[in-house]
Amino acid sequence: MTKILVTGGVGFIGSHTVVELMQAGYEPIIIDNLSNSSINVLDGIEKITGKRPFFAQVDCRDKTAIDQVLKQQGPIKAIIHFAASKAVGESVEKPLLYYRNNLVSLLNLLELMQENSIQHLVFSSSCTVYGQPEVLPVTESAPIQPALSPYGNTKQICEEIITDTAYADKNIHAILLRYFNPIGAHPSAEIGELPIGVPQNLIPYVTQTAAGIREQLKVFGNDYNTPDGYCIRDYINVTDLAKAHVVAVQRLTEEKQKQSVEVFNIGTGRGLSVLEIINAFEKVTGQKLNYAVVGRREGDIEQVWADPTFANTELGWKAEKGIEETLLSAWKWQEKLKSKV
Ligand code: UFG
Repeated sequence: MTKILVTGGVGFIGSHTVVELMQAGYEPIIIDNLSNSSINVLDGIEKITGKRPFFAQVDCRDKTAIDQVLKQQGPIKAIIHFAASKAVGESVEKPLLYYRNNLVSLLNLLELMQENSIQHLVFSSSCTVYGQPEVLPVTESAPIQPALSPYGNTKQICEEIITDTAYADKNIHAILLRYFNPIGAHPSAEIGELPIGVPQNLIPYVTQTAAGIREQLKVFGNDYNTPDGYCIRDYINVTDLAKAHVVAVQRLTEEKQKQSVEVFNIGTGRGLSVLEIINAFEKVTGQKLNYAVVGRREGDIEQVWADPTFANTELGWKAEKGIEETLLSAWKWQEKLKSKV
């Protein structure tokens, strides 16, 4: 079986990708330092797939430890690199942690790819690189804007590091996936998002409020220059997003790439306002959400959604799940978590 190293493989997007990889016949080799994830996620993966994937608790800043896994578990055909710190606000407070964690991890992996003759890399990038785009929907050729946070900056710098490395080393091929807003959970409700502490992102805050864990959802602003005044995002189902990684691995390993580094937007192509999300959530779950509109959150983009045409046509990937199904999956996961406590 073709082995794929998945860094951050027990995290939110990583765990869903591991499931899709296994169901597509790949053998994921997971490394994760468990700093923002739980080892119990492996139980959920096993319940869904019937198999427990290889796991090692490794921090990607530790090159020797990664190398040991590569040597013991190899040959590895490709790497999917999720492991990173991802909280925008925290990155403003702890920039060095973010630069060290996100940049050193990538440098280690690229060096190890060269040292171990691994040619293929799929990298988790973000629509954050576009800032507030002038033209919507945003395509991959839209200009990269100065980052608004150290977190966003690490994604931009990582894209550049990968591009420069692949330019210099013709053996290295990479696909950069620019995610829009990943939400939802596996339809089985065996795995999902596990925010530690107070959630920063909209959907976990919504589900925790509906579950009575949080008292009230604070909606950050309704005075934006959008049709209903609320911010607009492109919310992509995490299982759909996970499948994009499998297709990217196939494209790389079957050598269907047209350039050494390719970039794809991974979104639905549909922008939804925070109010539309709240209404859809209430409708599909039958829950009444206690929310109040407060002031704008610093650094928020007014509106962004993807033009996913390039991923649809060239990668052969398309978002399949609608927002109601996705919100329902997030709610089912929340209910399951509650029953575990
Ligand atoms: N929101 C609220 N209340 C909350 C949380 C969020 O109203 O409690 C709103 C935000 O203002 C925004 C929308 O819900 O309009 C989505 O916010 P999220 O925090 O869920 O997601 P962001 O779009 O802010 O964040 C995403 C990615 C980050 C990335 C960032 C760049 O999750 O990784 O875009 O803008 F860095």
